[in-house]
Amino acid sequence: MITDVEILNEFAHHEPGVARINNGSFGSCPASIIAAQKQWQLLFLRQPDEFYFNHLQPGLLSSRRVVQALINASDVDEVSLVDNATTAAAIVLQKVSWAFSEGVYSRGDAVIMLHYAYSAVKKSIQAYVSRTGGHVIEVPLPFPVSSNHEIIDEFRKALSLGKSDGRRVRLAVIDHITSMPSVVIPVKELTKICREEGVDQVFVDAAHAIGNVDVDVQDIGADFYTSNLHKWYFCPPSVAFLHCRKSPVSDDMHHPVVSSEYGKGLALESAWIGARDYSSQLVVPQVIDFIKRFEGGIEGIQRRNHEKVVEMGKMLAESWGTCLGSPPEMSSSMVMVGLPGCLRIFSDEDALKLRRHLRHNHRIEVPIYCKAPRDVELGREWSNLVTGYARISRQVYNVTDDYYRFRDVINRLVDDGFHCGMLS
Ligand SMILES: Cc1ncc(COP(=O)(O)O)c(C=O)c1O
Repeated sequence: MITDVEILNEFAHHEPGVARINNGSFGSCPASIIAAQKQWQLLFLRQPDEFYFNHLQPGLLSSRRVVQALINASDVDEVSLVDNATTAAAIVLQKVSWAFSEGVYSRGDAVIMLHYAYSAVKKSIQAYVSRTGGHVIEVPLPFPVSSNHEIIDEFRKALSLGKSDGRRVRLAVIDHITSMPSVVIPVKELTKICREEGVDQVFVDAAHAIGNVDVDVQDIGADFYTSNLHKWYFCPPSVAFLHCRKSPVSDDMHHPVVSSEYGKGLALESAWIGARDYSSQLVVPQVIDFIKRFEGGIEGIQRRNHEKVVEMGKMLAESWGTCLGSPPEMSSSMVMVGLPGCLRIFSDEDALKLRRHLRHNHRIEVPIYCKAPRDVELGREWSNLVTGYARISRQVYNVTDDYYRFRDVINRLVDDGFHCGMLS
């Protein structure tokens, strides 16, 4: 089993002295995987033709087989490797866009998505769906949230409202773990509702899921499911998988970057999108070897990360007199922790300014979310309101002191009478 010293060495390239409690945004890649990636790069650079004709495709197939087993996909042809979740969203939404422009879908047919969908995915829906005449239904999600029922109820309401004027809902885009605020969404239940309500297809944006929560694509039952391997699965940037359940629709899915492989199926199209560096996609089997060094493998890592981040979240909330944004069972290796109201986080700009202040002045890297007060809260004394939340992450390289430092810095800022209005 890997020792604490070995873990320190694997992440010794992280900038010293930074409390890095934001694995969620960019993930982390251990030194042994960076070394393995370099070997793949050298194999290419040493003799590119030999690499292209004899190593690249078998290597990518090995990575796809690893992912197939990991997510319980029924066939390796259902698994494509792409750069990232943004690319996967483009692949799915491009298909929707064609259905509108080719008259398969009618003007006004809808796509449903969560209010907390990731900004790039929302923009992609705007670019591929709204522009071609599609209607977008947004599900308003509660936050803070206390149960899956609240999410399921809002989803049902938005779906039936969207359908009430006879609209066909062609696609549901559902996050598995929303980015900001971070909440684990009951994807299996929402997918089931979509099936019952006649939604044509379901795309799960699970950018944060693999290595963070259990993933079984057959059990979830969506048509398309993507997750980044570079966030919580220790791969170098950038690599993600897109699982497309076998169907006539998935047979006509294409990579937006068209190469000579066009028409051979998405998995093979994605495995050659022109001359470039494929090394991040090739190291997936070596990542499995890295993960095997931890007790319990990826399940053990996930469980310990979750337990520790919840413990740290509760510790921070108690110290600051606030609360968590969701119950522990609706969080993963990331937890939303309320920040003291006296910090006066009143806008997204305030949240960004505070994040920058923590990075530059205190060497703490943590994303901050601004939650505008609800109408019922407006009359209340602002110091009693929680309008800002920190999204704390936990990965194998974190130590308890990272969170204590964050706690103490916030407490000091509060004691000093600091608030976001003081930041330029
Ligand atoms: C829910 C969600 N979707 C999509 C993305 C985009 O991921 P990437 O930038 O790797 O494409 C992110 C990134 O954080 C995300 O959180």
